[in-house]
Amino acid sequence: MSTVVINGTQWGDEGKGKIVDYLAAQADTVVRFQGGSNAGHTVCLDGEEYKLRLMPSGILCKDTTCVIANGVVFDPQVFLEEIDALKNRGVDVSNIKISNRAHVVMPWHKIFDELNENLRGDKKIGTTKRGIGPCYIDKADRIGIRICDLIDREEFAAKCREVLDQKNFILQKAYNHEPLNYDEILAEYEGYAERIAPYVCDTISFLNDEIDAGKKILFEGAQATMLDIDYGTYPYVTASHPISGGVAVGAGVAPKKIDKIIGVVKAYCTRVGEGPFPTEQLNEIGDKLRTAGHEFGTVTGRPRRTGWLDACVVKYAGQISGVDYMAVTRLDILDGFDEIKMCVAYEVDGKIINEIPASLKILAKVKPVYETFDGWKVNISNVRKYEDLPVNARKYLERMAAVTKIDVGIISVGPNRDQTIIVAKDIF
Ligand code: IMP
Repeated sequence: MSTVVINGTQWGDEGKGKIVDYLAAQADTVVRFQGGSNAGHTVCLDGEEYKLRLMPSGILCKDTTCVIANGVVFDPQVFLEEIDALKNRGVDVSNIKISNRAHVVMPWHKIFDELNENLRGDKKIGTTKRGIGPCYIDKADRIGIRICDLIDREEFAAKCREVLDQKNFILQKAYNHEPLNYDEILAEYEGYAERIAPYVCDTISFLNDEIDAGKKILFEGAQATMLDIDYGTYPYVTASHPISGGVAVGAGVAPKKIDKIIGVVKAYCTRVGEGPFPTEQLNEIGDKLRTAGHEFGTVTGRPRRTGWLDACVVKYAGQISGVDYMAVTRLDILDGFDEIKMCVAYEVDGKIINEIPASLKILAKVKPVYETFDGWKVNISNVRKYEDLPVNARKYLERMAAVTKIDVGIISVGPNRDQTIIVAKDIF
């Protein structure tokens, strides 16, 4: 058995796509288990850039099966757009499996996402407006429509009618919004159903059979720990569980069947949307990080908020997910800095605390305790061995491992597959 989970350890956009793509080359199957088209993975292959939202990053590896498991909220429109775009670029899309239990993102989910954000005014979450939260709300409210319903014509027509009546009532009475048209939605989604039906199966039995047969499975987390609905900076979080435990519920694979957990850590820190960010740099350092790292959202194009690495957050993610190795990404973005800072502890009201505060009021008060490192001031994008990294870069990584108590397993020094330093040889 060989199963590996990849989780983001910060606020997302750590460069998980690149790490997944690298490891996917050794995997038989790559699985998305939570989130939906709110994810934005950029993968570079042979100098070409691919931006993926719903599709597992393993799609660019030949002979790798890609699974969209039950914990994902599935937007058929986005899926089909991605399929068409990949096909046009010559990518083979025949090896995809979609869970019959995944919930379907419907037009009303996107509308409620937008309306709810508007209602929140300056307390808005800054969602991607892809309908993710409202789709998970309906799942918990037991009025969700699943893929098995979508591909059953009669079942879908009935469920769509029932749910739409309720949604139109709320839209009109509570939001003064025009009702949605049943016939149009039915026709649109019947078209989607026809095209996605060939990909649909019971992914739970598929994955467990694969594991029992000794196949290599990679579970690709979207978003990250600090956006987890339980462990993140609630309410400024997404609606799913982007942690290793999310694999058990989101893919139907038992925790004891997971071998290795990789936490992806960007060498500095970014966040999109609202919410606390203790190491944020609202100054020229932040601007320099944004420019050097091209830190603009893959899905929304929004400029990302930027700051120094917060090792407290990474340590927390390591505890929650049981991270075996860090995959440190974008280390090359720090090449041009004279000095680099890392937050190694939080101070609140003059006291060092050993936890991530649950209360946003307290989190807003924390003062990051920084350590300062000399920059290495050379281009490291061609380095392929750990010992060839400049000594100052190694010092930075070694301190990161000491504070987080997690070993460095992979280092990424550029967007391409080959710009990767493998330190841990036992990941798969
Ligand atoms: P939602 O997932 O669209 O509901 O958005 C909730 C929060 O998660 C917002 O702050 C988003 O910016 C953030 N978010 C969702 N997906 C991603 C991602 O892939 N990367 C970074 N932030 C994300």
